[in-house]
Amino acid sequence: MSTTTAVIDLDLPGPVISRHVYGHFAEHLGRCIYGGFWVGEGSPVANVRGLRSDVVEALRAIRVPNLRWPGGCFADDYHWRDGIGPRDQRPRMVNSHWGDVVEDNSFGTHEFMELCELLDADPYVSGNVGSGTVQEMSEWVEYLTRGDDSPMAALRRANGRDEPWRVPFWGIGNEAWGCGGNLRAEQFASLARQYATYARNQGGNALYRVAAGANADDYTWTEALMRSFDSLADDAGAPAGPFQALSVHYYTMSGSWGDKGSATRFDTDEWYTTMAKAAFVDELLTRHSTVMDRYDPHRKVGLVVDEWGTWWNVEPGTNPGFLYQQNTLRDALVASVHFDAFHRHADRVVMANIAQTVNVLQAMILTDPESGALVLTPTYHVFAMNVGHHDANALAVHLRDVPTVEAAGRELPLVSASASVKDDAALVSLSNLDVARDRTVVLDLRGRDVVGHEARVLVAADPAAHNTPEAPDAVAPAAHDGVRPHPRGLEVDLPAHAYVTVSLALG
Ligand code: AHR
Repeated sequence: MSTTTAVIDLDLPGPVISRHVYGHFAEHLGRCIYGGFWVGEGSPVANVRGLRSDVVEALRAIRVPNLRWPGGCFADDYHWRDGIGPRDQRPRMVNSHWGDVVEDNSFGTHEFMELCELLDADPYVSGNVGSGTVQEMSEWVEYLTRGDDSPMAALRRANGRDEPWRVPFWGIGNEAWGCGGNLRAEQFASLARQYATYARNQGGNALYRVAAGANADDYTWTEALMRSFDSLADDAGAPAGPFQALSVHYYTMSGSWGDKGSATRFDTDEWYTTMAKAAFVDELLTRHSTVMDRYDPHRKVGLVVDEWGTWWNVEPGTNPGFLYQQNTLRDALVASVHFDAFHRHADRVVMANIAQTVNVLQAMILTDPESGALVLTPTYHVFAMNVGHHDANALAVHLRDVPTVEAAGRELPLVSASASVKDDAALVSLSNLDVARDRTVVLDLRGRDVVGHEARVLVAADPAAHNTPEAPDAVAPAAHDGVRPHPRGLEVDLPAHAYVTVSLALG
């Protein structure tokens, strides 16, 4: 097999990779909010007004750009007025989607907004379309964003917050084809227009409204939402309509929805099936974009992947409704492959939110329910290694001589790559999806002088390696010395099942 080559024109910057594709998602589900973010003011776990300090600190380090809340399916059962005012007087409800447990609403609007302030992240609030009223959504926006003495602004003040908040992102429903109402596409498209109309810009706050989009490859859902715009785009720009973006959800698993596969015990076939399904996200984005292009050729309407990531069977012995799963090097590579696709689609994909930040699905952070110990997952480390891509310009990466395997009915290229440039720095991401073989990649770097480089690697001997309170650094990034000068640029060693980033200093 000849050496794999990655040709990169460093002087041809493409569209900006929004930092918001590195967004996160926190639902009232299992131990994400309660025990994950929120421990309460009286907790022995160190906290700032009830919010876990170690979780905030770890997330600040990866520069979380935005946080989606309160769901997910929970959002369409959530009535925001239950989550304001004195905590001991807040009404309770049943969280019917996730474990059928009683939710005491001690984490509500003020707690979420405070969390965003501590994280320095933009709030992305999911409004309730499934079981909420138009008035309820409209008043939530007023409560959050209005500065004068309107009824909702006055209520917010009475609850201790004088200044309005800034809320840039607003979700219009969630999975309306399923838990968000079991609606037909055309029916939801009409409702989305109605609800989005009343989610008004107030107090100088401009909302970017995201209509609940398709389930994975349901391109007809995207078509129906795009058809609902008032006009086709002309040379003047975007199609007119009351929302600015649509979402899509896509989860990766090696098995089926009935038996998704274990997070930590998998064979070679399951490895490649997982990688092939993760890599499919690129085709998915291309095809949704193609549908959108017909109505919006200038790509003004955003595509928001506001739920993505791995979904495995829950860890043995844990509540099936809590979606708690371990996170291995395999999850890390699923993340890196998604980011490569988001970078390639930077002209359409404006935001993405991994599901979910703490203790649920493909988490960044796992916390031990007994000791409270915090563990950073391999996925966390991919987010950390990719910070240089935030708001950088995408660079095309042309791969040559990449071996493939047949998996999940597709040809899976065994190297995934992307790159970006910002000022005098470039960042190249390289994932070796070969579970067993090391590979060398030549970076054929054109257009600008490379005056320095530094590489990092995320790898372990076992592709199922993961971090625990006893071994928190079983998978952690390290300096990578497998990079050498090459007549065309650099030669980079990629260990089997490894993620490597190469930072370039440009002259
Ligand atoms: O992320 C878990 C769930 O997955 C969300 O609540 C829902 O939107 C999706 O089906």
